[in-house]
Amino acid sequence: MISIILHGACGHMGKVTAEICAADPRVQIVAGVDAFGSTYGDFPVYSSLSDCTEEADVIIDFSTASAVDELLAYGVERSIPMVICTTGLSEEQAAAIREAAGQVAVLRSGNMSLGINLIIRLLKDAAKTLCPNGYEPEIIEMHHNRKIDAPSGTALMLADSINEAESGIYNYTYDRSGRREKRNPKEIGISSVRGGTIVGVHDVLFAGTDEVVEIKHTAYSRAIFAKGAVSAAMFLAQHGPGLFDMQDVIEASV
Ligand SMILES: NC(=O)c1ccc[n+]([C@@H]2O[C@H](COP(=O)([O-])OP(=O)(O)OC[C@H]3O[C@@H](n4cnc5c(N)ncnc54)[C@H](O)[C@@H]3O)[C@@H](O)[C@H]2O)c1
Repeated sequence: MISIILHGACGHMGKVTAEICAADPRVQIVAGVDAFGSTYGDFPVYSSLSDCTEEADVIIDFSTASAVDELLAYGVERSIPMVICTTGLSEEQAAAIREAAGQVAVLRSGNMSLGINLIIRLLKDAAKTLCPNGYEPEIIEMHHNRKIDAPSGTALMLADSINEAESGIYNYTYDRSGRREKRNPKEIGISSVRGGTIVGVHDVLFAGTDEVVEIKHTAYSRAIFAKGAVSAAMFLAQHGPGLFDMQDVIEASV
């Protein structure tokens, strides 16, 4: 059984992750840490990492960007692999993650969903076949009315996947309202829809002449991110120092 410290234990994702772990006999949360929370499950929740002395195989982090520096120092000092799911990290923090990965296993991904990460792989193949034959990539993403950033980080990950497969030839276009001209073949249009309680929809179109290829992902709940984090934790518990992402988890499972 893999033992887990849950960082950000009292947030939306922390609680969903605790539920997923409670239903999975392969894993057990031995402690939670949350600066502003209190104990709610069958594990203690500490307000500071320094109070958490439980032994664990992995840390899962769904907290906030400003908490990640201390987490990295903690994981390195105690040699505990870390699954970092928190988003909005700075370039400096990305560099600190790379440095930490020289001493302990670290997995970072802006989207922990297995489905989205599979699509990222599929898009590379699709782009290599379709783009040189004139199919034009467009991405439509939809989220709930509380989301403040646009486009979503995941839409950018999908666009990057297409762009990398095509040697970076594309620019991204977020708004066509201010111009009256035909579509530039060297662009990927990324459109954002906001409304209601939509958890997350990402629809990638390759629009060709007389046919459209569409690869679509719909998230119905946050559980998909928590499940991905648990899969990542199980993967990471078996690895020594190194920087990993969800592509490595998928690779290991096929
Ligand atoms: N990678 C993914 O697939 C994925 C999916 C969903 C959310 N996220 C990211 O995960 C993070 C958490 O999301 P959420 O929706 O649960 O947010 P949330 O605000 O509901 O929860 C964050 C929790 O972190 C706690 N926290 C704040 N400062 C802390 C500190 N110094 N030490 C420990 N805990 C601290 C807060 O008290 C809160 O309980 C965000 O960055 C979000 O964007 C990533």
